[in-house]
Amino acid sequence: MTTISPLIAGNWKMNGLSQSLDELTELAQLLTTGEAPRAVVVVCPPATILAAVAAQGASSGIMAGGQDCHVEASGAHTGDISAYMLADAGAQFVIVGHSERRASHAENDDIVRAKAEAAIGAGLKPIICVGETESERDGGSAESIVNQQLSRSIPDAAEHHEIVVAYEPVWAIGTGRTPTLEEIAQMHANIRARLVERFGEERGNTLRILYGGSMKPLNAREILNVDNVNGGLIGGASLLAKDFYTIISSV
Ligand code: PGA
Repeated sequence: MTTISPLIAGNWKMNGLSQSLDELTELAQLLTTGEAPRAVVVVCPPATILAAVAAQGASSGIMAGGQDCHVEASGAHTGDISAYMLADAGAQFVIVGHSERRASHAENDDIVRAKAEAAIGAGLKPIICVGETESERDGGSAESIVNQQLSRSIPDAAEHHEIVVAYEPVWAIGTGRTPTLEEIAQMHANIRARLVERFGEERGNTLRILYGGSMKPLNAREILNVDNVNGGLIGGASLLAKDFYTIISSV
């Protein structure tokens, strides 16, 4: 059986000024003075401080990621940021298809896939988010919705380029509610099966599947212990160095 090194990514969303670099300094201190982390650590700050996070994180092994990218490399797209720009600022990862982007910027699976392709083209590893809404779960269609998002949002290039899948039930994001461990296990097993079906045993079993949605210091250990959970995508609890470090140490 392939072992996958876990990845813990913090999604700061639209939070963080230059002052927030103090949290990064504290996180770096915790990571370098404590026990060596058993996870790859990524911080996805707002684009305004991405270069600073990348530069500052480098010495302590903290990698930087963007939160979104445009599908094109450059051009007349006022306010947008391309994957090449993120890479140029020092990013190694980029989140694409987060449910907040899908909902408030009307991003569909085709756009998400194009963004993932753009990220790969720029040498970044896309963290591709999928997840059902509460009514979809209540209506019994969580798996079929997620499977459709997977098949349409993940580019074929994933066969040869690293991508990360993040399962984030929309109703768990920022709400303090999480699925049961059984529900997480079931969805992650389903995602694993879809990846194996599409990319074959060897490849499908090496891709990381993160869980995201109200992962906190108190529930991280049990969630990260679930089969096929290869790390987490953390929103609120990644803003404070101590909380984020506790989650990283739960791996
Ligand atoms: P949360 O956000 O941890 O605050 O629920 C997770 C996410 O949106 O990636």
